[in-house]
Amino acid sequence: GILTSRGVPAPERPVIRPRRLRATAAMRALVAQTRIDPARLIQPLFVREGIDEPRPIEAMPGVVQHTLDSLRREAAACAAAGVGAIDLFGVPERRDETGSGAWAAEGILNRGVAAVREEVGDALVVCADTCLDEFTSHGHCGLLRPEGDPRAGEVDNDSTLACYQAMAVAQAEAGAHMVSPSGMMDGQVAAIRAALDATGHDDVAILAYSAKYASAYFGPFREAVGSTLTGDRRTYQQDPANRREGLREAMLDVAEGADIVMVKPSGPYLDVLADVAAASPVPVAAYQVSGEFAMVEAAARHGWIDRERVIAESVLGIMRAGADTVLTYWAREIAEGLRGPG
Ligand code: PBG
Repeated sequence: GILTSRGVPAPERPVIRPRRLRATAAMRALVAQTRIDPARLIQPLFVREGIDEPRPIEAMPGVVQHTLDSLRREAAACAAAGVGAIDLFGVPERRDETGSGAWAAEGILNRGVAAVREEVGDALVVCADTCLDEFTSHGHCGLLRPEGDPRAGEVDNDSTLACYQAMAVAQAEAGAHMVSPSGMMDGQVAAIRAALDATGHDDVAILAYSAKYASAYFGPFREAVGSTLTGDRRTYQQDPANRREGLREAMLDVAEGADIVMVKPSGPYLDVLADVAAASPVPVAAYQVSGEFAMVEAAARHGWIDRERVIAESVLGIMRAGADTVLTYWAREIAEGLRGPG
């Protein structure tokens, strides 16, 4: 050895050699523990009322607000690529104090659900976002306590639940296979389950945004839905400092009847995701949110990272941490890549 003269013995030949399993692409594929399957990806999509052409979202390059027509085409393309589900968000023309457009049959999100369902049938799972923030004039996820109330201006948990019930039932009636409450009100899953069951929709599943943190990574999404929010959501979304609370929220949602529980954002919360995946009796989803998407796209645009490899690695990491299914803005692109061109 180089250091023999200084009394360092020559290194022993290792008997155990993990590198054997890395020697060729075939060997690596043979022992890969995690694979991205398009059927486990969920594509979030935005449909906007009152536009004739799809509108680009500046902070989310490649993502658009769809017209009803372009939404249909996009949903069909997702189905053709083998994407497992789409999750639909609505951007209404008009908003009001209670977000009543959320449960109006003619509200843009419900029209979007109906259009997509007509287009794709059961070829993929049609899921709708069940939250008021896109529909309220103030941009909060729930109703505000009225003037005169000592806590005026704060989001009122219990009166909001009835709105979520109405919204979920309207989405089921429009044809959603699954609804996804994302407002972080206490008791929202139980309230929605009861409303769906009482109206003959016991077949509609609930994808619960269970551990949802008050995250700066949602920034670009606010542009995507034209959010009017000033301030933040820290009185209802979780404190990023808290790990144990994520597990508690997920277990509560399981007890309330959630069919799938979700952790959101994903990359910065893989510890929470791993906790939930280890304990949950139901499937676990993770949402790779707008900010996670935008950072990769921005760095790629500068030539600072290899875009495709970082996309694949980021989603793989989320699945390795325990996600059964991942919501990602790259769902269709990944699915098409895995299928090969054409
Ligand atoms: C609101 C909602 C948000 C996202 C999904 N649903 C924003 C928020 O809570 O402020 C974020 C999704 C993303 O950033 O990609 N109900």
